[in-house]
Amino acid sequence: MMVEERLSLRVHSCRFMSQLLVTGGAGFVGSHTCLALLQANHRLVVLDNYVNSSADSLERVCDLVGLKDRDALKVVQGDVRSPDDLNRVFQLSDKPIEAVLHFAGLKAVGESISSPLHYWDINVTGTRCLLQAMQSYGCKTIVFSSSATLYGSPKTLPITENSLVDPTNTYGNTKAAVERLLRDLVASEDSWRVACLRYFNPVGAHPSGTIGESPQGIPNNLFPVITKVALGQIDKLKIFGGDWPTEDGTAVRDYIHVMDLAEGHCFALELLQREDPQLLVMNLGTGTGYSVLEVVKAFEKACGVNVPYEIINRRPGDVACTIADPTLAQKKLGWRTKFSLDAMCLHSWSWQKDNPNGYIN
Ligand code: NAD
Ligand code: UD1
Repeated sequence: MMVEERLSLRVHSCRFMSQLLVTGGAGFVGSHTCLALLQANHRLVVLDNYVNSSADSLERVCDLVGLKDRDALKVVQGDVRSPDDLNRVFQLSDKPIEAVLHFAGLKAVGESISSPLHYWDINVTGTRCLLQAMQSYGCKTIVFSSSATLYGSPKTLPITENSLVDPTNTYGNTKAAVERLLRDLVASEDSWRVACLRYFNPVGAHPSGTIGESPQGIPNNLFPVITKVALGQIDKLKIFGGDWPTEDGTAVRDYIHVMDLAEGHCFALELLQREDPQLLVMNLGTGTGYSVLEVVKAFEKACGVNVPYEIINRRPGDVACTIADPTLAQKKLGWRTKFSLDAMCLHSWSWQKDNPNGYIN
């Protein structure tokens, strides 16, 4: 079956059409989730300060959806830490905002270690300001972008939601702190509906190659580096470590296609709206791990390009292997990832090839 056919079968129709706030909706995961939410007939207000994104992503989302009613996607440039900006978004639509998908935040591990005050300000204070505004407008449903990074170096695999939360870097500490704040909120008032979605390694792009990941500056993550090597923008991939205790000596990760992740958000939102108020904490991963060398080989084969590489020392802070146990999300949400590693490679490549400088043309 063609990818496009599979996609059209997979467009998920949520039972509830809601007015939603999407913070950080112009970013990588946010823009793909906006697409899925619009396809499910939700109406969105996006709040983003474009610190790591561009308004172009949302323009392209509108085109992809074929959005006729432009009021279905309102975009406000602003900061989650600003009460004024939050008031603007909560007062923007005729219908009250029923739920928030909170993507806004900073995610670079190295930068988080050198700038802890900034990371705690944006990720933790930003979330506290958002929750304050939600409470004052009587909006008590939130889907939060958490991360598998909060498991640190796992003792056993696959990683379940009950595995130890033991982050090894500042970024992970901020995610763990927000999860704790959300837990306290739910304990204080039982009308809150909260989902903490712990993503594993989001990669890929929309199959059209129209929207994708557009990191600012030199990329750190594996897929953006591989696509830039394939395009000739970077000489070669430096593989961090060939002496990990894995089959081929390179580190193993659970890569998840960003469209599968987007669909997971729709399902989690629907569950929160359908069921009694609750705190949901769940892994979003595929349950399958691939080594760096396996990814390189898969990419070369699927895309018909060469990815020169060199194995160098391990990157400080890296771990050998992270693989999700996605059973809880599968059971509670009825959600299954559908995109293969080949599709993740192909779609990342289509995006990069057609948009060599990301959204900057
Ligand atoms: P991204 O940087 O592409 O998107 C984040 C968006 O938030 C950007 O559009 C940015 O401009 C916006 N933003 C940042 N600070 C803001 C502020 N103060 N006010 C308003 N907007 C602000 O990142 P992403 O990959 O789409 O990640 C989205 C969320 O998912 C983040 O919270 C991230 O920590 C989390 N997450 C990402 C990954 C990943 O690998 N991509 C993995 C686990 C968790
Ligand atoms: C990193 C972050 C994690 C964050 C995630 C998504 C660290 C320690 N962890 O995860 O907190 O949630 O990104 O933003 O930074 N690799 C290479 N060469 C490269 C790039 C990566 O060999 O140039 C390897 C890495 O060593 C790793 C794998 O590829 O084994 C995946 O790396 P990456 O995409 O950066 O994700 P993580 O390190 O898993």
